[in-house]
Amino acid sequence: MTNHDETAAARTTPPAETTRSDGGPDHPRGESPWAFPLRIRTRRTLLRRHDLGDAADLLRFHSDPEVTRYLPWPVRDLQAVQETLATKVDQTALDRDGAWLSLAVEELDSGRVIGEVLLCRSDSAHGVAEVGYAFARDRHRRGYGTEAVAALLDVAWAQLPLQSVVAHIDVDNAASRHMVTKLGFREAGHKDGSDVLLRYVQDRPGPSRTTELG
Ligand SMILES: CC(C)(COP(=O)(O)OP(=O)(O)OC[C@H]1O[C@@H](n2cnc3c(N)ncnc32)[C@H](O)[C@@H]1OP(=O)(O)O)[C@@H](O)C(=O)NCCC(=O)NCCS
Repeated sequence: MTNHDETAAARTTPPAETTRSDGGPDHPRGESPWAFPLRIRTRRTLLRRHDLGDAADLLRFHSDPEVTRYLPWPVRDLQAVQETLATKVDQTALDRDGAWLSLAVEELDSGRVIGEVLLCRSDSAHGVAEVGYAFARDRHRRGYGTEAVAALLDVAWAQLPLQSVVAHIDVDNAASRHMVTKLGFREAGHKDGSDVLLRYVQDRPGPSRTTELG
């Protein structure tokens, strides 16, 4: 199930080695319109499938209440991280609506997993995906979030049958709101049924991503 595609992100970054996910039972391997690369290289990071050996790195930010403050996750101890990691290693295919794909963000210089990015196939009839992300606090405000999420979105827009990408963000989460705005998302009211979650929408790739990846 390997393929060596030049991803959209790779056009402006070092050559990417990509391993495509299986798009699901309805499609031959690699031929689903929702098949997605499992390795994307950016200037300073490698987005790749999670590995059970990532637990210690994940613990650094999954156990940090400042990081999880606006996330729908609890603060996790090592055992809880190992349990969630066991799920994440298999979150590799957007094979049905509601499926999440989860990629570790490995810092190339250190080899450490400093964050994670996620993509959900929310509504394939309308071409809607949702994006999620979290990074370790000691790497905040260094452009890693923008770099990794931009690459994920760049590849998503290039390879998936998308009409929009959404992000649901707490009204008080200034960092996340600022980041997606920079990436070309627009605020579009509240998430259905929520007082605190805003809905941000990206209708098409914005120019900022190309600049970031360049
Ligand atoms: C949101 C998050 C991913 C941003 O990652 P990051 O690597 O710090 O972001 P970047 O360094 O790429 O910064 C992106 C922009 O946001 C701004 N920013 C970052 N943190 C900020 C903060 N606390 N308040 C205001 N702006 C902030 C940066 O200055 C930058 O804008 P600029 O280029 O105009 O200066 C990170 O804060 C995080 O992991 N938060 C915890 C998890 C989380 O809340 N996830 C999102 C759930 S919706």
